[in-house]
Amino acid sequence: MSKKALYAGSFDPITNGHLDIIRRAAKMYDELFVGITVNNDKKPLFTLEERSKMVKRVVRDIDNVKIVTFDGLLADFANNKKFDAVIRGLRATTDFEHEIQMAQMNARLFTGETETIFLMTDPKFSFISSSLIKEVASLEGDVTELLPEYANEMLKAKF
Ligand code: COA
Repeated sequence: MSKKALYAGSFDPITNGHLDIIRRAAKMYDELFVGITVNNDKKPLFTLEERSKMVKRVVRDIDNVKIVTFDGLLADFANNKKFDAVIRGLRATTDFEHEIQMAQMNARLFTGETETIFLMTDPKFSFISSSLIKEVASLEGDVTELLPEYANEMLKAKF
């Protein structure tokens, strides 16, 4: 039976750390859905359309990846689409507390067989976050090696 997973986030912008998780998760599942969140308390720099366009372009060489957007609870979306797994990347021990809380809350909300699966971030990306990239880029710092080329072009256009 074909297995499908969801990797969700705000991707504001997508980074090389996210891309590494996407590439690895895509090898583990028949279909990987990258879910871009609509509602974002973080007040995104990029609109939903811009983030979708950016992520689509960056993952276009990976055959089994699809881009979706969703609003509301991740668990509702996962229940609706019957995902086998929700993928999360763990960068450092500091991510762990928040992630275990979310995984346990989602486990209560999942009505099907969905499991949260954690992948350890490649250490060379463990210090990256989208906020830090935006902060450095806004102050004209060089972030070229931290995010895909197309995402970097879109970021430069913003500042
Ligand atoms: N490499 C580099 N950076 C990474 C990374 C990796 N492998 N994994 C995460 N990050 C960064 C992200 O860029 C992000 O940085 P930022 O805070 O500076 O933007 C940060 O780590 C957190 O990422 P993530 O955990 O993916 O957060 P998010 O806010 O982008 O998305 C959701 C989190 C979408 C999974 C969560 O908010 C959610 O489920 N929302 C739906 C509502 C819901 O169901 N709520 C109840 C949850 S129990």
